[in-house]
Order: sequence, then C-alpha cells, then structure tokens
Amino acid sequence: MKAIAFETPGGPDVLTVHELPAPTAGPGEVLIRVQAAAVSPTDTMRRAGARTSDQPGPFVPGMDAAGVIEAIDDNTETGLQVGDEVMAFLVPNGSHGAYVERVTVSADSVVPIPKGASLVEASTLPMNGLTARLALDTLNLPKGAVLAVTGAAGTLGGYVIQLAKAEGLTVVADAAEDDEALVKSAGADVVLPRGEEYAQQVRSKCPDGVDGIVDAAVQVDEIVPAAKDGASIITIRGDKGERERGVTLRSIWVTDYDGKQAKLDALRQQVEDGVLTLRVADVLPKENAPEAHRRMEAGGIRGRLVLEFGDLPES
Ligand SMILES: NC(=O)c1ccc[n+]([C@@H]2O[C@H](COP(=O)([O-])OP(=O)(O)OC[C@H]3O[C@@H](n4cnc5c(N)ncnc54)[C@H](OP(=O)(O)O)[C@@H]3O)[C@@H](O)[C@H]2O)c1
Repeated sequence: MKAIAFETPGGPDVLTVHELPAPTAGPGEVLIRVQAAAVSPTDTMRRAGARTSDQPGPFVPGMDAAGVIEAIDDNTETGLQVGDEVMAFLVPNGSHGAYVERVTVSADSVVPIPKGASLVEASTLPMNGLTARLALDTLNLPKGAVLAVTGAAGTLGGYVIQLAKAEGLTVVADAAEDDEALVKSAGADVVLPRGEEYAQQVRSKCPDGVDGIVDAAVQVDEIVPAAKDGASIITIRGDKGERERGVTLRSIWVTDYDGKQAKLDALRQQVEDGVLTLRVADVLPKENAPEAHRRMEAGGIRGRLVLEFGDLPES
C-alpha cells in the first residue's frame, strides 16, 4: 500500500510516496481504508524533526484519518462494523501514521463520522477537537466565566470557541482584521486585534482579567497580563509553571485523550447538533503532501488542508 512518508527529517520535499506492507488488524484494533488525512502543524513539526520516534522509519505523519472500516479483528470488542464510515485519532510512531491508504487503529480511538459530513470534513475533527476538549476540561471553568482564546481563527481556536460557547462561557477572542467575521461566526462574544497588544486589549475590556485562557497562538508569556490573578493559561507546546500574580501556565498534550472514545463521540454528536463547524481549506491528492506542508507552514490557512487517498470502493 502507498504511504506518504520521510526517511530523514527536513523540508516539505522529504515527503514522498513509499510502498509499505499492508497492515492487518490485531486484537482490539480495526483496519481502516483511509480516504482523507488532515494536515496539522504537528505534522509539519514532526517532518521537520521536532518529534522523535522509538520505531524505525520510514516515518508516516498524520494524526487524523477518515475512511471506511475494512476489517475488525475477532478479538476487538466494538459496536463498529465493517463498511462503517469512521474518523480516527492516531498517535504517529515510525511507519504508523494517518498519511496512508490503510491503517490499523485501536477501536477506542475510532468513531463514526458525523451524519451529514463528508469523510474529508470529518478528518478535520479528531485531533484538534480532542485538544479543544482537553483544554476546556483542564480549565474546568464554571458557566458564565470569561475565556480568552488566542489563535482564534485557527482550527484549534475555532473548536475551543464553539465548545466554550456551548458550555455557557463568555469568549473573548483575537483576530486579524480579515478574520474578524470568521471568529465572530464561530461565536466569540468579543473580538479584539491579535498580536502583542492583545493582552492589554483584553484588560481594557475585562479590567480584572479573564478567568482562563487557551493559547492556541503560542504567545505564552505575552498573554499572561490578560489573566485574572490565580487564573490558568492552557499552553500547547509544553510551556508550564507559575508566573506573576499566581497565574499558571498548564501544558496539555492531546495524546492524553488517546482512546477516549466517549469524548470523540461527543464531538461527533456536537457536529451533528450544529455546535461544531468542520472547516476544510482545500483538498489535495496525497502526492501533493509537500505542497500542503509548505502552505501550512506559510501560515494564513483558514480551515484544514486535507490529503485525499483515493476513491472509495463501490459498496
Ligand atoms: N499540545 C497538543 O497536544 C496540541 C494539539 C493540537 C494542536 N497543537 C498546537 O496548537 C497550535 C494551533 O493549532 P491549529 O491546528 O489551530 O493551527 P492553525 O490552524 O494554523 O491556527 C493557528 C492560528 O494562530 C494564528 N497565529 C499565529 N501566530 C499568532 C500570533 N502571534 N498572534 C495571534 N495569532 C497567531 C495563525 O494565524 P496565521 O495563519 O495568520 O499565522 C492561525 O490562525 C499549533 O501550534 C499546534 O501545534 C497542540
């Protein structure tokens, strides 16, 4: 089977088509014939060498796959069936990643795609949806609390806003002028200019500071002044520790929600209920993975780029 992979980390062109042995599902697993794999910043960072693997290469990136279940191991307890259209959250390791024609995944990291969504759209949900869920679960803010979000025009930021609104939080979000309408349409109550001044802008709207922050733009210490005394800031690149006025940076990793099938299924339901919007920026054939990575790294993508892995078989 074909996979998009790299042998040695580097620029986008290290991603090439590789022929890998077709996997078979083991106990607890399902085999998915992949049709769509979303491209996320984590994939570009992995390709550039930021993450190591304890498995040999070639290294297959990709944390989100959507496709059709082709096989289920006899020793897998699941309500899923062969032929189901599903989306999966994957933690890449060695040649195990989402940029492939077929992948085996633990059944508890797989759920049906939302009704009414395409496989391409569904592939944009698992990894960033679970990250948004984890961020809000970690903050655990009460209804009515004020949450600030940086990087609000991005995929993670958008999901955070929508989940937060569904939980009765007031959301203050950042945006460049061109993204204001997008961020408002996600449900943000207040939209302020993004960048270095955002923290001060938040303070001018909320003089005591906000109750919690999800820092999807990786502003880290720059955003601390926006937080209320003793509030928590969720960081997504490992920054942590106490800062001024008892404000604490709390690092989250979506891998902590690997196998949390109920959380992933709740996200599916929230798409069906109209709480979450799936945003696709563009769909590219798998061979164009280098172009997708270049575009991702250049910034300015709104919605997710998705790699397509061929047509589905006739049913
Ligand atoms: N810890 C984890 O487990 C985990 C899980 C998922 C994601 N992440 C991380 O979360 C981050 C967001 O992911 P994503 O998928 O949402 O990426 P994304 O779709 O590219 O969104 C990031 C957004 O932040 C904006 N931005 C960049 N620099 C900014 C700045 N200085 N001020 C304000 N906005 C800024 C970007 O705008 P431009 O496009 O204009 O630059 C973009 O709108 C990434 O760093 C990713 O690696 C971590």
